Amino acid sequence: MEVILSGMRPTGNLHLGNYFGALKNYISLQELYNCYFFIADYHLLTTHPNPEDLQQNVKTILCQYIACGLNPEKATIYVQSSVPEVAELYMYLNMLTYVGELQRVAAFKEKVRQNPNNVNAGLLTYPTLMAADILIHKATKVPVGKDQQQHLEMTRDFAERFNKMYKTDYFPLPVGFNFGDDLIKIPSLDGNGKMSKSYGEQATIYLTDEPSVLKKKIMRAKTDSGPTEKNQTKPQEIENLFTLMRSVSKPEVVQQFEDSYNDCTIRYGDMKKQLAEDMEIFIAPIREKIKEISANEEYLKKVVNLGSEKARESASKTIKEVREIIGFKNF
Ligand code: ADP
Ligand code: TRP
Repeated sequence: MEVILSGMRPTGNLHLGNYFGALKNYISLQELYNCYFFIADYHLLTTHPNPEDLQQNVKTILCQYIACGLNPEKATIYVQSSVPEVAELYMYLNMLTYVGELQRVAAFKEKVRQNPNNVNAGLLTYPTLMAADILIHKATKVPVGKDQQQHLEMTRDFAERFNKMYKTDYFPLPVGFNFGDDLIKIPSLDGNGKMSKSYGEQATIYLTDEPSVLKKKIMRAKTDSGPTEKNQTKPQEIENLFTLMRSVSKPEVVQQFEDSYNDCTIRYGDMKKQLAEDMEIFIAPIREKIKEISANEEYLKKVVNLGSEKARESASKTIKEVREIIGFKNF
């Protein structure tokens, strides 16, 4: 069966963008493929988190993954650092990686601009570690957003280079999972760009938001003074409200507001109130499940153990074979 894999750095609570841009896709993929979904905690070390925060953030994502519907019985859900074979493959791949090609990576250059005082080797070799994540399970499809495409291309380069160097076709060359039109971008509540935890608390809807918080954020979302001509094109911040509504409200409800926008009778206050209600209906079960799972340490331990066992089984097979290909043989 085809192997699908994706990872996420544990940087805090999941938001609506993470849900519709990643989790929802993972949930449908787990029904159809051999899926590996992991928490990229090695990757997080480039930013030097303290041990307590690191542990807490891993737990947060794990609980939220499961609360959203990822099923540890169907997919292999694991924490990257519990599979040390990844670190071994990372080292081997680093021997085939040129410093120049790493320095040219857009995400690396951006980080250097943002944080000129912390340009560590782990940051430079981030793409090699990501390649190790993917190749350790010989994954062929990787559901990632646009910002990760360059990393994925590099994974293909590294796999191809390994295969050429050792005259083998051992590693398959992974490609992005193509969702076609289904890959939606959830907009930020402040009218600017995509929803992202780096754009401020008030503009981001978290899966953990309590009803009052949720309502406040939505009621404060940016709008204009209303349409003045029938059927006029919507400005970005209004289109954003509709996009959010399309993600959680019933189609007939969205249509009702589309119609009132088009005949200039829309009242944004009513639309936001409706959106806040529908958002609460969508988020409430996930939020409550997150609380329930977070309190169940025993269950979490089981999930982590099962995940690392399954992931290590696959990873140790790859490492054993890679060692042989490289020429490390026992006498
Ligand atoms: P953030 O921008 O909050 O740091 P991440 O970069 O950690 O989010 O995103 C993790 C995953 O969620 C990625 O697969 C990304 O494509 C997806 N994602 C994040 N924000 C959005 C969004 N606003 N709309 C759709 N998908 C998103
Ligand atoms: N770099 C990815 C991100 O920031 C996370 C990640 C790490 C990943 N390893 C991966 C994604 C392997 C897909 C496959 O979003």
